[in-house]
Amino acid sequence: MNATSARLGRFITLEGGEGAGKSTQSRLLAERLRLRGFECVTTREPGGSPGAERLREILLSGAVAPLGATAEALLFTAARIDHLDHTIRPALARGAFVVCDRFADSTRAYQGALGNLDPVLIRALEHTAVGRTHPDLTLILDLPVEVGLARANARRGDAAADRFEREGQAFHEGLRKAFLEIAAQEPARCAVIDASRSVSEIADLIWAAVESRLLAPSAKGVA
Ligand SMILES: Nc1ncnc2c1ncn2[C@@H]1O[C@H](COP(=O)(O)OP(=O)(O)O)[C@@H](O)[C@H]1O
Ligand SMILES: [Mg+2]
Repeated sequence: MNATSARLGRFITLEGGEGAGKSTQSRLLAERLRLRGFECVTTREPGGSPGAERLREILLSGAVAPLGATAEALLFTAARIDHLDHTIRPALARGAFVVCDRFADSTRAYQGALGNLDPVLIRALEHTAVGRTHPDLTLILDLPVEVGLARANARRGDAAADRFEREGQAFHEGLRKAFLEIAAQEPARCAVIDASRSVSEIADLIWAAVESRLLAPSAKGVA
């Protein structure tokens, strides 16, 4: 399957820093979509297909970081290509919703804004991997860095922090800013969600965005 395959479903991505609630809200959004009768595939990056999940382990172990931001971006792109080909595009082609926990905006923010990679390279890699399979809606889960890191720490318990959780406060502040800049640049695709609220309040904010942007009769949606 390639980037020009027929596409009937809707592609939703969740972005934001560590502990913002992306995984929690992906699950809740999928449940709500299924209650409405839609097929919904939940997936995540890095990973989301057998090949990409193997690359995820390497990427999150930190083994690639010493090779530099360019090498890291290339490996994320390789994982994204496999994920799109084997999971995302087949689901969209049969009309399913795809709810993806992190996607190309994470590469823009982590490797682009924070890894100082040339934006031209980031754009080229994104174009190569994503082609025309852009998200229809990107939910940017925004919250103060210390709140997100406290949640991520509590979730992790005694387990070791991964490659990105180990980064300091300034890195995570930069990440937050990078996601908000993406949202400001592409307001038609992105909705900023106040992720400092309760789980159910955030779920309601997300559902309101999905309804108004994808499901309402005036939207280009599938209902
Ligand atoms: N709105 C919320 N308020 C408080 N705790 C939350 C909220 N959303 C998620 N959590 C908890 O915070 C931790 C991180 O949430 P998670 O969904 O894994 O975030 P992410 O996938 O963005 O890193 C989890 O332990 C989760 O149960
Ligand atoms: Mg998560």
